[in-house]
This record gives sequence, C-alpha cells and structure tokens, in this order.
Amino acid sequence: MTDPQKQFIAALTIAISNCSLYAKEHELIEESAKKTFALLNAFLDDRTEMMIIENELVINKLPMRDARLHSTNLVKRFKRKGISRIDFVKGVTAAEIKQFITDLSTTDEGIQTYPHIKTGVVDVGTGSSATGSSDVALDLDRASSFTEDQVEKLKEIYHTVSPFKKLKITDLEAIVARFVATISREISVLKLLSPVKSYSNYTYVHSINVAVLSIFQAESLGLRGKVLHDVGLSAVLHDVGKLFISKEILEKKGKLDEKEFAEITHHPSYGAGYLANIDGIIRMAPIVAFEHHRRFDGTGYPTLTMNGKNQHIASQIVAISDFFDALRSWRPYRKSLDTREVLVLMKKNAGTDFNPMLVDNFVRAFLTALAKQE
Ligand SMILES: [Fe+2]
Ligand SMILES: [Fe+2]
Repeated sequence: MTDPQKQFIAALTIAISNCSLYAKEHELIEESAKKTFALLNAFLDDRTEMMIIENELVINKLPMRDARLHSTNLVKRFKRKGISRIDFVKGVTAAEIKQFITDLSTTDEGIQTYPHIKTGVVDVGTGSSATGSSDVALDLDRASSFTEDQVEKLKEIYHTVSPFKKLKITDLEAIVARFVATISREISVLKLLSPVKSYSNYTYVHSINVAVLSIFQAESLGLRGKVLHDVGLSAVLHDVGKLFISKEILEKKGKLDEKEFAEITHHPSYGAGYLANIDGIIRMAPIVAFEHHRRFDGTGYPTLTMNGKNQHIASQIVAISDFFDALRSWRPYRKSLDTREVLVLMKKNAGTDFNPMLVDNFVRAFLTALAKQE
C-alpha cells in the first residue's frame, strides 16, 4: 500500500484510534496527527474529496480497495457521525486536522464545522457510482441551489398526493436527512432559506423553509438524532392539507372572502386526516399538521373545547417557523417584511400566539446566525 492516499487513510485511522486510547496530552496523539497532516499535504491540491459510496471509501474518485481494513474502520466512524463526504480544502492547518481527528474519535453524533474541512452527505439519488462527476455530492458552498433542488423534489412528491395515493415517505425522509446533516454543519441558516419565485410554488418553498427553520430551532434547543429528524419531517408536511384545497383559493391574488377563508382553515384537519392514514408514519406528523395554527394561549384554529392549551412542543416550534417564513415572504396582497421586523412581531406575540421560551430561543439563535452572515 504505497499510494499517498492509502497512507493517509492508514495514518488517519491510527490517529483516531490513538485519540480514543490515550489521554489528550499523550505525545502519540500529537505525533500521529502531524503525520496525518503531512501525508494529506503530499497530495492535496486545491481540494481533496473523500466520499463513502456503498460502504466504500473513495478519494478523488478513486476507490480505496486494498486499504480495506483501515477504510472499513473509517467508514464506520463517518457513518456514526452522519457524514459521507469530507472535503479537505487548500489552507487546511495541522490544528484543524488534529481537531477533526479528536472529533472523529468520540462516540457521539455530529461533528463541528472547520474552516478548511467541509463535511456533508453524498447525494444518494445520483451517488451510486464511484466514477461519476463531482456533481454526485452535495456542494456545501452552493447551499441555496441545493435548497432549490429539494423544493423541486418536494413538488414532485406532492404531485402524487391525492386521497387515493400514498405519500412517498422515504423520499421525504431523505430530504429531511439532508437538511439535518447540512444544518448541523452549515454556519448560516439564512443560506438555506429559499425566496418564493412564483406564487404557484409557494406551498413547496414554504414547506421546505419551515422544515429548515424548525430543524434549526430544534437543533439549537439541543435536540439530536431521531427526534430532530421527526421535527423536520413533521414540519415539511405541516401544510400537506393545502393540497386538498382548490388552487383558485390558494393562489387568489387578493384578500380571501369569508367563505374562502373558512375553507382555508380546514387545511389542518385535512392534512392530519390524510397523514393519520399513512402506514408507518411518525405520530408527530398528523399532530403537527393538526395543531400548527393553534396558539400557545389555546386560541387559533381548529377550535377545541377541551385541552385547548395542550399544544405539542413540535407544533409550537413549527408555528414559529410558519409565522417567520410567511411574513418574510412576498405575497400578492402585501410586501415581505424585513427579518428583524418579523422578529419584533414574533416577540410581541410571545405568550399569546407562541411559547415565549421558544421565541427567545429562536430570536437568539437567529440573531447569532445573522451576525455570522453579515
Ligand atoms: Fe398552515
Ligand atoms: Fe404553513
């Protein structure tokens, strides 16, 4: 095994094991991290991409076949962290490599962000071939067009929705998994929000944005793993009931009359009823669809006579994302609001419409993301 790439894989695997075997200060840790860094630099040009494709480690499109033992070990480590692509970018430092190694040696999920090491997931839709173009992987620098692709996918999935056809839940789960993976690593959530370009696309773009914002909130509250994924999936489906409302009402340019508005207010019940009949769907999804227009103080719609205040926390999260995205988007009957104006309005409604603890969390996390972006 003489290729520099394979030597690098071996060194990286050994360095990670050293980290889990020895104390932080042990000189072997420093030494093996340095060796890994030197070996990476031996072949790193502008960017070196490492991917996992069908359990095989691939570096710069070359499958690392006879690095079997080391690569199997690394594949396991990356999977545990929920990543299947790592890009090492020119300028990477020894300190970053050491941190990366240390992070990979821990057993918890997720991984932090580094200036010159980009982590993400391989696009499973097109990524089955190890020899494909570089398009097979998610380009983390083009987060907004990545979001647009997800909008198109959601549109495709939603076009199959009818009372007689079942939703492709696994496709939706894949969309959500990619957002969860991206949001845990991307610095700014703003990059992931899509503008509404045409009015007929509103429901799809809005559903994706609400999913992004809800995963963002849930993540900043400390939720991880399955529950984070469940919040994302429930959020992307929150308005599925709108697919059972006529286009004329949904796309009406102008204010809705009383009858039309009454029809719109049925979408939570339509959505919940539809989702509740899908086999294998998480219970949170119909609950969120039903409750997302309910308010923290027990008002809102659908109106309830009992337990009016018992809104599920996931519905409370989605209600905040829904409000935020709806107000910042342009609609035929009003202009969009600046994000800071929306935050002010949200704060005003804390305690009545929204859970004040969740509003505080949203505002704090959002302003932090905004500051990083500016
Ligand atoms: Fe809604
Ligand atoms: Fe909505």
